[in-house]
Amino acid sequence: MYEELRAEIETYTRRTPRSAEALKKASPRLPLGVGSNFRTYEPHAIFVRDGQGGRIRDLDGNEYIDFNLCFGALMAGHCHPAVVRAVEERLRLGTMFGMPHNLELPLAEEICARFPVEMVRFGSSGTEATMHAIRLARGVTGRDKIVKMEGAYHGVHDSAMVSVKPKADQYGSADAPNQVPASAGLPGPTVEQTLVGVFNDLGSTERLFARYPNQIAAVIVEPIMMNVGICMPEKGYLQGLRELCTKHGACLIFDEVKTGAKLARGGACEYFQIKPDIVCLAKSIGGGFPLAAFAARRELMDAITHFKVFHAGTYGTNPLVMAAGLATFREVLTPEAYEHLNHLNKKLVDGHAKIIQKSGLVAYAIGAGSNGALMLYPKEVRNYRDWTAIDVDLWRHYWFGMVNRGVLPQPHWWDEQWTISVAHTEADIDRHLDAFADLAPALARAQQSRQVAVAAAH
Ligand SMILES: Cc1ncc(COP(=O)(O)O)c(C=O)c1O
Repeated sequence: MYEELRAEIETYTRRTPRSAEALKKASPRLPLGVGSNFRTYEPHAIFVRDGQGGRIRDLDGNEYIDFNLCFGALMAGHCHPAVVRAVEERLRLGTMFGMPHNLELPLAEEICARFPVEMVRFGSSGTEATMHAIRLARGVTGRDKIVKMEGAYHGVHDSAMVSVKPKADQYGSADAPNQVPASAGLPGPTVEQTLVGVFNDLGSTERLFARYPNQIAAVIVEPIMMNVGICMPEKGYLQGLRELCTKHGACLIFDEVKTGAKLARGGACEYFQIKPDIVCLAKSIGGGFPLAAFAARRELMDAITHFKVFHAGTYGTNPLVMAAGLATFREVLTPEAYEHLNHLNKKLVDGHAKIIQKSGLVAYAIGAGSNGALMLYPKEVRNYRDWTAIDVDLWRHYWFGMVNRGVLPQPHWWDEQWTISVAHTEADIDRHLDAFADLAPALARAQQSRQVAVAAAH
């Protein structure tokens, strides 16, 4: 660890003693002391006390402008008044019944009005949405194999936990990647059914269709890969996947868990003008509540109607969550909100680009909808393997440096990105940029001296 990074981590540690203490206490009862593996990092995660609008406070009372926003699930910001009102009104009428009610249809209508789909089923997490989408594709086609892209994350069910972050000594050749289990506990025969393509390389998926004729049920893809910072699809790539799936009788599944709410009213389908067969939604559609959905045209969803493919869940269409979702669709994900967010994001991305240039940092800033990222690479990342070339310590220097300056720039981990919420203001963007401008010269110096050291070592 280099000196400036050590100094930022020391400052962080000094500012957050109560979080360190909370982690210590939680560790004997919760593996890693946290509720999800993505929430652990050294020296300790920030334990949060509360949040309001675009800000959160930690247990020590430090306030941060929050661009993490629960891994991008809070485009509404914390405690959006319309969402709070809707949930409060619903709360006194009973929280769950496991019976149909009158909030299901209007929310399904909202989704069908925005996305190229005709029927919807709901769930509580992105994992559930992609799991059921894959089962639907398998049920409809009568095939077992699916294709996912190397490095892509689609949740934690077995079929998706393949080649999520494979290591260089495991991942095999660049044009035909190995199928690498991302966890112990995955049955070998399940892993075998998940084939691995390369994002932005149509040929890799084409070869899989040629190698496994009539065996591939679906290609699941995140239209913009957001588990490697931000990795945009190259022109024609998504359309190419669409054509390959049509040609081979497979379903194209868009995992819009992240992009669905934040890119445009109609998510990536609208943004890129592509019509997938199945769309998966979660995160920001719930306005802060656990809402997910998978949706498709009637002909596919009829497999559920006819009891061929099974879908169920006690918590599905929970009335509180549906009330939150309906308020989110109607009062948060509005055309005006997208205008506001696009404007703020452009300001943030352009501001980063200017600071990068002035400081001499070798990096670029990229944005899409209400998401953006500082990418510490000399040229644009096209796929997972490009992304692995990150200087992790330099990224940590960036993240802790920003946090110490009162800005939570994105979730911890260099595969993530920032989210802007409807609660953020121009002043919040200015503060974000001021913090980065303050830090960037030190990052540039550190980057330069580390590159010199690497060059000298060779
Ligand atoms: C693209 C994508 N798909 C699926 C998931 C899984 O969603 P959840 O964490 O709600 O299960 C995530 C979570 O980050 C995601 O980013």
